[in-house]
Amino acid sequence: MQEKLEKIKQEALDSLESIKEKDALEKWHTIYLGRNSAVMEVFKSLGTLSKEEKPLVGKAANLVKVALEAASQAKEAILEAQQISESLSKEKIDITLPGRRAVRGRLHPTNQTLREIYRIFGDMGFQIYRSREVETDLMNFQLLNFPPHHPARDMQDTFFIRSEEDRGENPLLLRTHTSPGQIHAMREHTSKYQEDPPPVRIILPGMCYRYEQITSRSEVQFNQVEGLAVGKGITFQDLKGTLSNFARRMFGQAAKTRFRASHFPFTEPSAEMDVGCFLCGGKGCSVCKEAGWLEILGCGMVHPIVLENGGFDPELYSGFAFGMGPERITMMRHHIEDIRYFWTNDLRFLEQF
Ligand code: DAH
Repeated sequence: MQEKLEKIKQEALDSLESIKEKDALEKWHTIYLGRNSAVMEVFKSLGTLSKEEKPLVGKAANLVKVALEAASQAKEAILEAQQISESLSKEKIDITLPGRRAVRGRLHPTNQTLREIYRIFGDMGFQIYRSREVETDLMNFQLLNFPPHHPARDMQDTFFIRSEEDRGENPLLLRTHTSPGQIHAMREHTSKYQEDPPPVRIILPGMCYRYEQITSRSEVQFNQVEGLAVGKGITFQDLKGTLSNFARRMFGQAAKTRFRASHFPFTEPSAEMDVGCFLCGGKGCSVCKEAGWLEILGCGMVHPIVLENGGFDPELYSGFAFGMGPERITMMRHHIEDIRYFWTNDLRFLEQF
């Protein structure tokens, strides 16, 4: 029996020697230590042995079993170490290679234009005032001197927050322009002073919303940059000088500007400012519709009623205001033909800027 056990052990160890993979080791385990293995058969046969033989054979079989188990564990450790060193050498990282460059994002073209606008007006002493996008009818229209039945208030160009039935006296709406920010800013400013508030010079950027047909020239959502300067002795000359200077810095020193009489409820007098067409230089082309000029903003002297609504005494104070569309300006700077590109999130468009 001793001899037989020795043979079993030797055979098992020999077979273990040649094993190179974990799968094979598992199989080996079943064959040499499993329930039907030769060692186990010896244990099973102990009952048939004599009283004297039983403990001797039992002990010897156990020694074989323990030896085989130890050998298998040692093998397992070797295989594991081999696997690790193999994968380390196979997947070696070459630290001398340059790293993979992270894709660099960039500012949306409108934001690039906005920042340019901030810089230009910042140089002229204007601060940025941020105002809410959800407004009341009072702020968006009434306090800006819109007459009660002005068409801008119609369903046609306004997104109301509530349905018509429970809209009430002073409905909430998405602002249709940045002009209501003028009232917020003036009130916040003038409420800090008992009398003689110091002058205000601000620009008010942000999103506006109009319920209208989407075309290559108009979107339902767009940015505006409003401007407001109020103080003592501010005249139309200041307006013209400030805005012409803006146009030269935005479109180049040679940029020509022209002011046309216009109408807005919150300014008097009102004007629209055009710049000479960048494409034809004023000769007339398809971009400027043969006019030689492109309209870039509305402006005017702040209406006395609006000054009063903002807490300024119109007898003592005057001011000018303007409103422009940065998407429009971006279209002109980069010759973009369709305003809808700004909201389609198409990288082929965005990556060009
Ligand atoms: N709020 C006007 C609009 O959305 C733009 C505008 C025109 C703003 C003249 C002004 C201004 O401040 O003086 O069409």
